[in-house]
Amino acid sequence: MNDTTTVAGAMATLRTIAELREALRDAQAPVGLVPTMGALHEGHLALLERARAECATVVMSLFVNPAQFAPGEDLGSYPRSERADGALAAAAGVDFLFAPAPAEIYPDGFATSVHIAGISDTLEGAARGAQHFDGVATVVTKLLNIVSPQIAYFGQKDAQQALVIKRLVRDLDMPVLIEICPTVRAADGLALSSRNAYLSAADRTRATALHRALSVAAQRIEGGERDSATARAAALEVLEAEAIAPEYLEIADPETLAPLKIVEGPVLIAVAARFGGARLIDNVIATPGQEPR
Ligand code: PAJ
Repeated sequence: MNDTTTVAGAMATLRTIAELREALRDAQAPVGLVPTMGALHEGHLALLERARAECATVVMSLFVNPAQFAPGEDLGSYPRSERADGALAAAAGVDFLFAPAPAEIYPDGFATSVHIAGISDTLEGAARGAQHFDGVATVVTKLLNIVSPQIAYFGQKDAQQALVIKRLVRDLDMPVLIEICPTVRAADGLALSSRNAYLSAADRTRATALHRALSVAAQRIEGGERDSATARAAALEVLEAEAIAPEYLEIADPETLAPLKIVEGPVLIAVAARFGGARLIDNVIATPGQEPR
C-alpha cells in the first residue's frame, strides 16, 4: 500500500461535517478513520500508527459522545484535553482532525438511534444500560457516513464495542473494513484507558489485579481447564485479594458473547470493576492450548 506518497503536512482541524467533506473530496484512498473521545494515550496512538502505516489519508475524530453516557455517568468530568490531543495527533501523522461540537452531530430534532440487538444487552450493556451501545452505534454510523473511510480502526480493549461495530457494518452493508487492534497495556499489565486518570495512586496499584485475574483464568484455560466456573473462581480469588468486587467477570463466546459453561474453543474473559469514581474494563481472549492474546 506504499505506492502512494504522503507528504507530511500540517494537520487540518475541521469542526463541521461540510468542511470535513470538502477537505476529503480529493483525498487519496485508502482513507483510514480512527474514532476517539480524546484524552489520547498510547492505546489511541497505536491505532493511529496502524492507520498511518496502512492508509494514504488518516482522519481522527475527537468527540465525547453524549449519547453513549447514561445519566449519572462521567460525561461532565470525562477528561478533555483537545490542545494536547491535537499535538499528539499531528505528531502521529493524522491528516485531518474532526472535532465537532455536540450540536453538529446531534442538531435539534435529531431522532434516529441505531440498535444492535442481542450483543448490546449483555456485559457492558447490562451494566451500563443498552442505551450505551445504541449511543456508540449511532455515532459510529454517523462518523462512517461523514468520513466514508475504506478502513476504520478500533481497539480490542473495548471487545464488546468492537463486536457491536463489526455487526453493525455487516448488517447495514457499510463499505468499510473494520480493523481491531490489540490492547496496549502499561508495563504492569493495566490496560491503558482515558479513565485511568481518575485513579488514586493506591487504586492505580490495586487496578493491576484486573489483568492478573484475567491472566490467571486464561492460564487455567490454556492449561486444559474446561469448566469455566473453575477458571472464573481462580480469577475472582485474585480480585478478592485486593478487595475488588467486580461488576462482572464473565467467560463468554468471543463472537456472540453467550456465557459459556464448558470451554471448547477460544473464549473471551471480560471484567468490569469500580475503583472510587473510576469504572474500568478489560478483557483477554484465551484459547485452550495457546498463549493468551
Ligand atoms: P475511546 O475510549 O477514546 O477509544 C477510542 C478507540 O481507542 C477505541 O476503538 C478503543 O477501543 C481504543 N482503545 C482505548 N484504549 C485502548 C488500549 N489500551 N489499547 C488499544 N486500543 C484502545 O471507544 C471510544 O472512544 C468511543 O466509544 C468511540 C468508538 C470513539 C465512539 O464514541
